[in-house]
Amino acid sequence: MSAPDRTAVVAPDRLTLPAEEVRRLGYRVIDAYVDHLTGIREIAPSASAGFDAFQPLVNEPAPEGPADPDAVLDLAVSALSTYMNHSDHPRNFARVPSPSNAMGVLGDMLATAMNAAAMSASGHPGPTALELVVLEWLTAELGLPPETDGVLLSGGSVSSLTAFATARHVMFGEHDASAVVYLSDQTHSSMARGLRVLGFTDDRIRTLPTDDAFRLPIGALTAAVEADRAAGLRPFMVVATAGTTNTGAVDPLLEIADVAAANDLWFHVDGAFGAPAAFTPGGREILAGIERADSVTLDPHKWLFSPYETGVLLVSRPGALDATFAVAPEYLRDTAGDVNFRDRGPQLTRGTRAVKLWMMLKTFGLGATRDAIARGIELAEVAEAALRATPGWEIVTPAQLAVVTFAHESMEAGEIVARATAEGYSAPSSTVLRGRSVVRLCTINPRTSDAEMVESIARLSALAGG
Ligand SMILES: Cc1ncc(COP(=O)(O)O)c(C=O)c1O
Repeated sequence: MSAPDRTAVVAPDRLTLPAEEVRRLGYRVIDAYVDHLTGIREIAPSASAGFDAFQPLVNEPAPEGPADPDAVLDLAVSALSTYMNHSDHPRNFARVPSPSNAMGVLGDMLATAMNAAAMSASGHPGPTALELVVLEWLTAELGLPPETDGVLLSGGSVSSLTAFATARHVMFGEHDASAVVYLSDQTHSSMARGLRVLGFTDDRIRTLPTDDAFRLPIGALTAAVEADRAAGLRPFMVVATAGTTNTGAVDPLLEIADVAAANDLWFHVDGAFGAPAAFTPGGREILAGIERADSVTLDPHKWLFSPYETGVLLVSRPGALDATFAVAPEYLRDTAGDVNFRDRGPQLTRGTRAVKLWMMLKTFGLGATRDAIARGIELAEVAEAALRATPGWEIVTPAQLAVVTFAHESMEAGEIVARATAEGYSAPSSTVLRGRSVVRLCTINPRTSDAEMVESIARLSALAGG
């Protein structure tokens, strides 16, 4: 009998690349990443070409046959470099940037490469242990009780939505049409959207006008709760913001915690953007009261330097997440462990988001992380000082939690931002505060130098006409 012909079975299917080819292409991916890192200051923070230019390059019927993987990779790299805003660019100050970090990126690559999941401690003990320890670290940094439960999610919107579903389940079991939620006119739009998804109608959401510092006013909160109770409604939850997107304002968390306790309200803190400030001594003071929250949203893909998508939800009432989300169908019974992250949110199949966060925090340490967060606060102060030293600018809201807003006497903010984006040096964004259009910088990238910040302001001044 002759030996079987092994060459005929190199690849069991037509979706398998030879190992050496995977290695070669993989190195090309790493090269693309490192080129991005090392060349980032030479490119514009905003996309240098738009959708209309790129779409024709890929808009074709689904290909029936194969293509050269190098050509496919080239096109993908160009989609993600030329045709994309770079939220990790040191001169990107628009909305909330995402400064990212190399260990986090490598962790994410590794997790994807291993197709790692984090559903249950029995099936995925490694990723589950990493997720638990990362959540414990964040719990401690925010000063929340040690029995706090948490879960990693895609980002702030889904984290708060998950918090609201949990709050409702704990408070009522099911939806109560008389339940009312309190938030402010500076609360992020994702909060109202999450409530809408859960069935809260607009007439059950009290959007309280903020005070002069864009903070939720305690007097108005108390009055609204009393008025609703008198009208036979059921005050349910207050959503405070630790670092608003518009101005970086922090709601008076301690006083809100008192109102929540006195009125049996669930106290949710949206710290998607600002909560990491609590890692620094100064920020901890500004965020005092966050430790009393029933639930906190924190987005590591913003000011904790994690790549997208990394969101965190912490719930200080132990067991509340599991009580809300646990399912136990017969086809999962072989895999149940003591900790099942699949029971702490709406996702059953879920990749590990913890490994990228753990690899970063473990490699660099909390000390370096703290300093990087503090640098963001400092950079906004550098920007404010440069603006104050330049004629024509008015500071509309001072530097707070790495956000500063300002206006120019001779040009509308949207026009200044459009010109800056076209010029390609820095990327500010605009927003509207009480009807007034302002330029806004969010300065959370620790790699931004003072010189780059000062140069960015100088260029904005020139674009605005001096
Ligand atoms: C204060 C605040 N909350 C929530 C969100 C929503 O987070 P995500 O975009 O991760 O869903 C953002 C996003 O910028 C935010 O700034």
